[in-house]
Amino acid sequence: MTIDFHSHILPCLDDGSSSVEESLHLLDIMAQNGTDVVVCTPHFYCHEISISSFLSARQNSYEQLKPYLKPEHPKILLGSEVLYSSKLNQLDDLKKLCIQGTNYLLLEMPYLRLSGQMIDAVSDLVDCGKVKVLIAHIERYLNFTDYSDLEELMSLDVLGQLNANSFLDRKTKRICFKLMNQGFVQVIGSDMHHENRGVPVNKAYTVIEKKYGSDKISRIEESGKRLLNDMETYEVIL
Ligand SMILES: [Fe+2]
Repeated sequence: MTIDFHSHILPCLDDGSSSVEESLHLLDIMAQNGTDVVVCTPHFYCHEISISSFLSARQNSYEQLKPYLKPEHPKILLGSEVLYSSKLNQLDDLKKLCIQGTNYLLLEMPYLRLSGQMIDAVSDLVDCGKVKVLIAHIERYLNFTDYSDLEELMSLDVLGQLNANSFLDRKTKRICFKLMNQGFVQVIGSDMHHENRGVPVNKAYTVIEKKYGSDKISRIEESGKRLLNDMETYEVIL
């Protein structure tokens, strides 16, 4: 089962799909590329919007799309991509932003050097027990921070997600493999915003299979299923 853990395909919510037609086109592309389940993760910025307003906007967007969904489209799960803030663990309803049916929160770190303070705040978020943490596109932060900082972040009790398109570039592919070898990566996402921004998860699977063999794909798929079953972080890390 191919699960896409990160996408911006709900219409008119963020910098992703700008219409129902575009969302349907992106879902067609995913279906043609073998995606079975897609987690829709519109951006959530706690300094811009309340959780309740975000959730009603997301529901409205989904309701607009729903009548046009086809049986061949991937199954849609609702979620969000929550930008880091030191105040996240003070939000009462934070759990409502998690991937549908789970207590896993897709957390986006800021595009800055990862400071000790940020890593401590993520650690506090994990320890507060309200949510479990899946760090979004972990490879991307290496444009802004040292490898050792990312290593420190990923050594917390968190899971890691990579973007599929990072496997299609020679330089970022090497970084992805390094992160996978260190056990920091459990799941893949398309991070699809538009037809030309983000690629389906199976594009990464092809590259991963060539490097590690099909067993690795089975493990990623199993980790994904465990995550969606809301198993504990250590049970998702295979
Ligand atoms: Fe994203």
